[in-house]
Amino acid sequence: MLSTRHLTGIKNITEADIQLIFQTAEEFKEVINRPIKKVPSLRDMTVANLFFENSTRTRVSFELAERRLSADIVNFSASASSVSKGETLLDTVNNILAMKVDMVVMRHPAPGACAFLANKIKANIVNAGDGTHEHPTQALLDAFSMREHLGDLAGKKICIFGDILHSRVALSNIFCLQKLGAHVKVCGPPTLIPKHIGGLGVGVEHDVRKALEWCDVANILRIQLERQDIRYFPSLREYSQYFGINKALLDSLGKQILIMHPGPINRGVEITSDVADSEHSLILQQVENGVAIRMAVLYLLANQ
Ligand code: CP
Repeated sequence: MLSTRHLTGIKNITEADIQLIFQTAEEFKEVINRPIKKVPSLRDMTVANLFFENSTRTRVSFELAERRLSADIVNFSASASSVSKGETLLDTVNNILAMKVDMVVMRHPAPGACAFLANKIKANIVNAGDGTHEHPTQALLDAFSMREHLGDLAGKKICIFGDILHSRVALSNIFCLQKLGAHVKVCGPPTLIPKHIGGLGVGVEHDVRKALEWCDVANILRIQLERQDIRYFPSLREYSQYFGINKALLDSLGKQILIMHPGPINRGVEITSDVADSEHSLILQQVENGVAIRMAVLYLLANQ
């Protein structure tokens, strides 16, 4: 059993929880590769997918996971709802729950929105990304994908590149990888690295070549222009020149590393196409594993 009723973040779960999610995801990965991809595990449950912020991968992945577990689904997007008429988050969610919903998957631009609801509602809640805070299922699918190539992650070296300051993926990855015993560094321009990140026990590097020489896995993040109210670097062209990862740079390392990216990719900015589409890229494998990881999370929370 998981140690929690909700998945609001990786910070609040244990290494045993992560290992249980991985074991369960391995079984569901086998299921979704069968000709009949469905199991009846959540046949009597209704899940509401509440997306107050845009999403492609996470939203489709949760919906597929729910359908493959035979749950009933209701989809909600803020732009087409009464939120625009001034309804509060709690009122919106309580009205949806009054229609006998058992579980909520929520993406929201406010950090802490899921934790706020978890204290107020009876349904299980899964954080599908809360602002710049956490994106726990992304970190789980990232670590699961690394583990398929590297085995046990204890002692492995993972560097997260890019806009760490605005990234929920970075924070959840740091918590998850450290709980699994990996060494974590972050690399990017000083303006996009939080000043106190060293307090989390991660190394900080501003030289992309040195960071690539150090790591076994490069997890590359995009610049989150939509969360930037001031300029953190002169231009995307300059960012790409100093912090972008291209094939010539990787070829010059004299070793192979795994390339990851949570998406959406900005081709030619943080990563070139010949890296994103290379044989060492796990990007589409991450997306594939996302369904199995989300099936495991929903199944384990429903069986609390
Ligand atoms: N990785 C990720 O969260 O992508 P979406 O924003 O498309 O869901």
